Amino acid sequence: MTEKFYVTSPIYYVNAVPHIGSAYPTIAADVLARFYRGAGVPTFFLTGTDEHGSKIEQAARAAGQTPEDFTREVAAKFSFAWDQLGIAPDDFIRTTEERHIIAVTRFLEILKDSGKLYEGEYEGLYCVGHEAFINESDLDGKGLCPDHKTKPEKLKEKNWFFKLSDYGKVLKEKILTGSLEIEPDSRKNEVLSFIDSGLEDIAISRPNVKWGIRLPWDEKQTVYVWVDALFNYISALGFPNDEKYKKFWPADVHLIGKDIIRFHCVIWPALLEAAGISWPRKVFAHGFFTIDGEKISKSLGNAIDPNNLVDKYGADAVRYFLLREIPFGQDGDFSIDKLEARYEGDLANGLGNLFSRLTTLIAQNLEGELPDVVVSPRDFDGVGRLIENLKFHEALAKIWEEIAWANKYIDETKPWETAKKNEKLFKEVISSLVALLYEIAKNLAPFMPETAEKIRSGLSAEKIAKAEPLFPRLERTHA
Ligand code: MSP
Repeated sequence: MTEKFYVTSPIYYVNAVPHIGSAYPTIAADVLARFYRGAGVPTFFLTGTDEHGSKIEQAARAAGQTPEDFTREVAAKFSFAWDQLGIAPDDFIRTTEERHIIAVTRFLEILKDSGKLYEGEYEGLYCVGHEAFINESDLDGKGLCPDHKTKPEKLKEKNWFFKLSDYGKVLKEKILTGSLEIEPDSRKNEVLSFIDSGLEDIAISRPNVKWGIRLPWDEKQTVYVWVDALFNYISALGFPNDEKYKKFWPADVHLIGKDIIRFHCVIWPALLEAAGISWPRKVFAHGFFTIDGEKISKSLGNAIDPNNLVDKYGADAVRYFLLREIPFGQDGDFSIDKLEARYEGDLANGLGNLFSRLTTLIAQNLEGELPDVVVSPRDFDGVGRLIENLKFHEALAKIWEEIAWANKYIDETKPWETAKKNEKLFKEVISSLVALLYEIAKNLAPFMPETAEKIRSGLSAEKIAKAEPLFPRLERTHA
């Protein structure tokens, strides 16, 4: 196993409050971090908020607040929501923090010294929703951005440019040799063909955006918000001198959505290369999910607040559902019906029932005293490897096979009958079930930390009592 592990989620724009879409990669990153921490690997998990640029400035104005107040309030909402979901990052970076601004300024100076920046003029269509220039050919029939349904601004400005066009060759080579891994494969191919189509230099500063980090050598310009944002991955570690930076950089995996792959797989490595900094080892792009088949959008108002889900189903059920239902790396669909079906089937009737049957048997027949625990009758080979490979849904499927096996084993051995007739056999069955349940809890801990803890503490009580249901019956939302 690796000697250290550094995992990041994207940092989220604070023009929107947390929703299940932004919760998704953050939960996945938390699962990885918990898994590596559990394996004794020094681990660092970073998340945070992306707070500069026109989009945020406009959102603050619309809310009638200063950008400072507005960003602080929304960042706190992210932090709160993640906490409710049982997400425990080692750090939460906000791009408006002094430590970030200092690191970005330092990095820009290095970049300037590298000779890879030049001043030029740019004319193009800027989409504030994307915080990026877009091509005329991408617009819909009405001349609007197809994703944001807004008219892009025509900009003609003086900017500082980065010679991205110099980096096609090294990018290709490192991607092809696997020195920068991009997963899934389809995303890797997408990046390679984007590089093949020819890289153009990019503007890394904006003269007309006030809400941003000033260029140290040209105070009239602020850093392009995407460049500012990418630096979070090193500024949070205390680039360039902190011990943490030396210990944890390069990132072992950047978890991102498929929408922001070019920034992470092309621009970010090229910027690092220019500054002589090592590249992240892996970028994993997950898919997008719809809600009841519809795209999550402000105009539809269908974004789901994860806090409401946690209140109703508990954090672990939400974590379980998102990672079990949608194969990580593919697109999927979220619906309350599907969530409730898995809650009742997999969680209440599967795992919850197993735990309650077992504790009831011990409480009723052994006066709550645990027989000697043996080795688990089933092994969980491969679950760890599946998690390392970000195949979360397969890891969970494998754990649930064992849960099903255990429930069937109880049905077949009928321990409530042997309890009276054959104490030795009864104790054997119970011992192996307890051992199996400990294994289940251990493997489940990165995904469902609260549930794993309830199982462990329920089974390690001096006098084992019939357990409270792990997943109480739901009042159904739909008939
Ligand atoms: N601020 C930038 C990222 C900077 S990283 C240096 C940004 N923020 S965002 O808030 O718009 O979205 C970030 C991520 O949220 C996406 O890449 C994706 O991981 C996740 N998702 C947002 N909507 C989602 C879905 N509908 N489905 C799955 N993930 C979604 O882009």
